[in-house]
Amino acid sequence: MNILAIESSCDDTSAAVLTAEGIQSNIIASQSIHLQFGGVVPELASRAHQKTITQTVQQALEEADVSLDDIEAIAVTQGPGLLGSLLVGICFAKGLALSRNIPLIGVNHMDAHIYANFIDHQPEFPLLALTVSGGHTQLVHVTSPFEHEIIGKTRDDAAGEAFDKIGKLLGLPYPAGPHMDRLAKKGDPQFHKFPQALLHKGLDFSFSGLKTSVLYYLEDKNDEWIQEHLNDICASVSYAIAEVLVKKLKRAAQQTSVKSIVLAGGVSANSMLREKAEGMAAKLGIPLYSPKISYCTDNAAMISITGKLKAIKGQFDDLNLKPFASLT
Ligand code: KG4
Ligand code: ZN
Repeated sequence: MNILAIESSCDDTSAAVLTAEGIQSNIIASQSIHLQFGGVVPELASRAHQKTITQTVQQALEEADVSLDDIEAIAVTQGPGLLGSLLVGICFAKGLALSRNIPLIGVNHMDAHIYANFIDHQPEFPLLALTVSGGHTQLVHVTSPFEHEIIGKTRDDAAGEAFDKIGKLLGLPYPAGPHMDRLAKKGDPQFHKFPQALLHKGLDFSFSGLKTSVLYYLEDKNDEWIQEHLNDICASVSYAIAEVLVKKLKRAAQQTSVKSIVLAGGVSANSMLREKAEGMAAKLGIPLYSPKISYCTDNAAMISITGKLKAIKGQFDDLNLKPFASLT
């Protein structure tokens, strides 16, 4: 089945084409307008989606060398995300589905982060997913496609949010996660010991204390000192985040006896997290998968593969499809 997928849940407008041969295109138009505000401004995000969605979809079709006549279903992000942003993608998808008389498939964005792992691999079920993005941090026990239980989650900030907020304190641009990752590679993870909240307790996470502790740590340091030790601070913060994520992932894997482990979401692009998770999974003897970097952060390729898996299960939607802002 040839699927055209659209993702517009936050600040990236993305369109992708999936055919029987695999992903043919994955166009991502990132919105730079938010840079000056140090975070995503919802109203500006939906306006920017509106501006770029037509050309993004056209580009995806062109790059795939596929005409709209060949598209057999439209997959679109239904939520969670910013309502105004989601509406732009959903209305566009509905228009296409209506005019071409083809089915619509609403996709849960967090499911899509997990199923991004199925673009290039075939992880075995039951699997355990560590879903770490700008808005969510979850441990998900997936027994079969679209059958899952969230067995751990953050009680406050998401891991990506922690990277972004701490990066902002360090004067890095939004989103700070990839910048911190790059700088951390040149630093010493043991330079300063930042707290790892709830390390020995259950499967939930908490990252707001880490942010506060970095704030206090920097209080008596001047800009010159911070610049001089930026790599080491980034490495120490990344260590605190990656360490707690992987310890909980290990605990969850031991409790669930899964056949595979997958990393998912924007933070799964983090090199320290990937390295630690690979080492842990190898010791447990469980295969670990992570999406290629361009499929970690928000993209429509992950929406297309999830759409395909839903289509296989016969899960289609009609024109009554509605966006939802938070995870149900
Ligand atoms: O999945 P995503 O693109 O959007 C949401 O659904 O939230 O995740 C974005 C988050 C941001 O917080 C960003 O800083 C973080 O993923 N991120 C990273 C890296 N790449 C993206 N965090 C740490 N290291 C990275 N390499
Ligand atoms: Zn995402």
